[in-house]
Amino acid sequence: MEQKRTTNPAEIDFKKKFDLEGKTIIITGACGLIGRAFCEAVAQHGGQIVVADIEKANPAQYAEELAKRFKQKIKGFVLDVESKTSVNTLKEFTLKEFGNINGLVNGHQNKSHLIFEPFEKVSEENWDKVVSVNLKGTFLTCQIIGSWMAENHGGSVVNIPSTYSVVAPNQNLYKGTSMGCPAAYSASKGGVDALSRYLASYWAAKKVRVNMITPHGVWNNHEEQFEKNFSNFSPMQRMSYNHEVASALVYLLSDASSYTTGANILNEGGWTVW
Ligand SMILES: NC(=O)c1ccc[n+]([C@@H]2O[C@H](COP(=O)([O-])OP(=O)(O)OC[C@H]3O[C@@H](n4cnc5c(N)ncnc54)[C@H](O)[C@@H]3O)[C@@H](O)[C@H]2O)c1
Repeated sequence: MEQKRTTNPAEIDFKKKFDLEGKTIIITGACGLIGRAFCEAVAQHGGQIVVADIEKANPAQYAEELAKRFKQKIKGFVLDVESKTSVNTLKEFTLKEFGNINGLVNGHQNKSHLIFEPFEKVSEENWDKVVSVNLKGTFLTCQIIGSWMAENHGGSVVNIPSTYSVVAPNQNLYKGTSMGCPAAYSASKGGVDALSRYLASYWAAKKVRVNMITPHGVWNNHEEQFEKNFSNFSPMQRMSYNHEVASALVYLLSDASSYTTGANILNEGGWTVW
């Protein structure tokens, strides 16, 4: 969108800048903990959504629920981000249903990082799966859907790395719990971070902005001991909630962030500040 050439802020409708009305946004991992908050926030701001997730997550059902509640065009799509064919079909489906794509949000992840495996024992299969879903999946959606936006009118891509691509996990966080964070997760998210910066530069002149949101410790009925440990290490002394991650998404998808690209919004309660 062309920006108004003015020095007078009174000519600007700042509330409207956050509007997503008329925008078509593809969200992967849309049925997950954060994905659902992303969908809700985009729908509340008037956006049209393609709710994309694996078959088991039943994206069609969630899309139908949202469409009914918001009386907006919201469609489900069964997606496997690891497959080029599947991502190509997602692009075709979106263009057929909506005629346009304005935003891509990569909210998918491979779950196996939640099952702790000591580094010495990580299998090649597990490593490959995590890297394939988290990093290759983001590469494919950016390549296929981001490129479409670059070849047309531009748009906004939002990728999700992790605090553990910014700093290493503090192993004391997991003391007395069954949890951990394997290296493949950190490594794959480091790749997402680097890819996002690369594309922010690569597509800047094509009006595709590429930014990141880094969530941290999003509460999901965690083990009591983990929540206690987390609070002790967190400057804000608490975990976060999925809805706290989604406000940043509205900013990055909307015209409010028209001059922001290559940024990583740290939604980590100050975890990396000390
Ligand atoms: N929850 C946190 O505390 C936290 C912290 C930092 C970063 N993140 C990142 O935020 C994003 C969302 O996290 P979440 O907690 O909502 O995770 P989640 O596991 O609840 O959701 C992930 C979604 O991705 C989907 N998915 C898995 N494999 C897929 C595939 N091959 N194709 C398409 N979809 C697939 C799953 O079905 C699921 O709905 C992830 O990228 C995660 O790494 C989360």
